[in-house]
Amino acid sequence: MEEAWLLVLMGMVGVVMGGYPTVTPSVGQVWPRPQMMKTEDTYMVIRPNTFKFSTVGHDCDILQEALKRYIRIMFKSHWDPETQTNQPWRKDTGFKGYLDGVSVSLLTPCEANPHQNMDEHYEIKIDSPDAPGEGTIISQSIWGMLRGLETFSQLLVPDASAYSINSTQIMDYPRFAFRGLMLDTSRHYLPVSKIQETLDLMAMNKLNVFHWHIVDDQSFPYVSAAFPNLSKLGAFSSRHVYTADDLHTVVEYARLRGIRVLPEFDTPGHTKSWGPGQPGLLTPCYKESVPDGTFGPIDPTNHNTYDFLKTFFTEITSHFSDHYVHLGGDEVSFSCWESNPNITKFMDKHNITGSYNKLEEIYISKLLDIIANLPTKNGYLVWQEVFDNDVEIASDTVVHIWKNENLPIAWKNELDKVTSRGYHTILSSCWYLNYISYGVDWYKYYECDPQDFNGTDGQKQLVLGGEACIWGEYVDRTNLTPRTWPRASVVAEKLWSSSAHTSSTAEASPRLEEHRCRLLSRGYDVEPIWPSFCSADVN
Ligand SMILES: *[C@@H]1O[C@H](CO)[C@@H](O)[C@H](O)[C@H]1NC(C)=O
Ligand SMILES: *[C@@H]1O[C@H](CO)[C@@H](O)[C@H](O)[C@H]1NC(C)=O
Ligand SMILES: *[C@@H]1O[C@H](CO)[C@@H](O)[C@H](O)[C@H]1NC(C)=O
Ligand SMILES: *[C@@H]1O[C@H](CO)[C@@H](O)[C@H](O)[C@H]1NC(C)=O
Ligand SMILES: *[C@@H]1O[C@H](CO)[C@@H](O)[C@H](O)[C@H]1NC(C)=O
Repeated sequence: MEEAWLLVLMGMVGVVMGGYPTVTPSVGQVWPRPQMMKTEDTYMVIRPNTFKFSTVGHDCDILQEALKRYIRIMFKSHWDPETQTNQPWRKDTGFKGYLDGVSVSLLTPCEANPHQNMDEHYEIKIDSPDAPGEGTIISQSIWGMLRGLETFSQLLVPDASAYSINSTQIMDYPRFAFRGLMLDTSRHYLPVSKIQETLDLMAMNKLNVFHWHIVDDQSFPYVSAAFPNLSKLGAFSSRHVYTADDLHTVVEYARLRGIRVLPEFDTPGHTKSWGPGQPGLLTPCYKESVPDGTFGPIDPTNHNTYDFLKTFFTEITSHFSDHYVHLGGDEVSFSCWESNPNITKFMDKHNITGSYNKLEEIYISKLLDIIANLPTKNGYLVWQEVFDNDVEIASDTVVHIWKNENLPIAWKNELDKVTSRGYHTILSSCWYLNYISYGVDWYKYYECDPQDFNGTDGQKQLVLGGEACIWGEYVDRTNLTPRTWPRASVVAEKLWSSSAHTSSTAEASPRLEEHRCRLLSRGYDVEPIWPSFCSADVN
């Protein structure tokens, strides 16, 4: 009778024991996959109320904050202190005891800010042959330690009241130094809290560059101290802005997670929103020899332009600690320049015939000169058109490849061309996450490799990495996280893990499924990638 009732009840609440998800998630696997990971079937048990990290090497605020953060992350969703007992959680022959502490061994003093050449190597030993029953995370640098803590947190497998962790040895480092994600805060404003959420997710995927495409044609949310009218007249509203405090908050939040912030101020095109706040900056467009009231790219013939840029970028680089800024330079429309008689006069006077590329070059080379001579002596990235238009660029320029015509031949040829001329480069062409389609779309992101082009080994060394981009025309705070993740996780693994370990979508599938469930259980609305279920679905 009771059994019958139970069956009825189970039927009513829809309990089905075993459905048919597309892929069964792995258990206790790491995303992105480490370079070397060896696990045994033996395991230790971690009890949240007794577990501690202890620092045995160097220490600093970044490390202390990270240890606190990872305790929260590791024990977030599955731990109920009420039900926790000190009984073994699963005492079988594989049980090697309780792991009540992990020693965190940082071998050199912390650097203040993450940078292009930061060292991200780390090692993890849990119940290893040379230290049975113990746990250690070892790194030369604070940046490697942050990556190691993330990996350690992913090794924990939750059960009702505790966590198990297999005997494990990991030796890990990234394949590429530049592993980026770009957000666009011009087409739609993104609240600082959403940017912070993105930075959290980036750290959980070992991405290390936040490329902030902060302004564009549609709005100018950056509040400039020197030119307050830029945002006063160029932002969507007085509330859709980023103040100096906001910038500081973002840069600091990123720093604590080992993430560089690369600000982009794209010129001379994509600058409509700059116009109202800075009269004279943009080129007035003409129609039948009268101004038609619209404006084109920044006017490269006007002296004041360069004074403005110098003051403006001096201010920008004071907010951001990274050596690099992104100067844009994409999609410059020449039709407005062609229509303007002053521009024509300037070109005649300077004996510039035929090509407006040359005019663009004059602008860009003056801008590059300004940036290189700022007190902070910054380096820069540019979108590929600057290179394509034969603009002379400094030898340390990083060329950002984004075009995706005639997929994928064009970007492979471009990688070859850029690197054969000796420039560093990063690839985004195959990783525009703002494009969506029906069906499983992540295979194509996983099958793209930034070193997969015809070139010498020397050329391939010039590829610094790549970047996932999520343009904001159809993305705001409501859909940012699900549209970006876990698809950006796929890019993250391609950029971190070895090419030999990332050649099979079939191998990656169960791990990606586990990782997606992991991010969901940590409280992030990451979207599903196929029919599936996670334990966090029902909470
Ligand atoms: C961890 O150990 C269990 C047995 O305790 C085994 O089933 C599982 O495959 C191991 N996991 C990994 C990632 O090696
Ligand atoms: C800012 O814009 C206002 C309104 O258009 C104008 O009156 C003021 O002179 C401008 N300030 C600067 C510094 O250009
Ligand atoms: C062209 O240049 C002249 C002289 O500098 C200036 O007075 C005029 O406003 C300019 N016109 C346009 C449309 O740029
Ligand atoms: C303009 O360029 C042409 C072709 O390169 C050259 O012959 C001529 O001397 C130049 N004129 C001036 C004024 O620089
Ligand atoms: C690379 O070289 C191979 C062999 O010469 C050729 O078949 C292939 O089309 C080339 N790929 C690209 C992207 O040019």
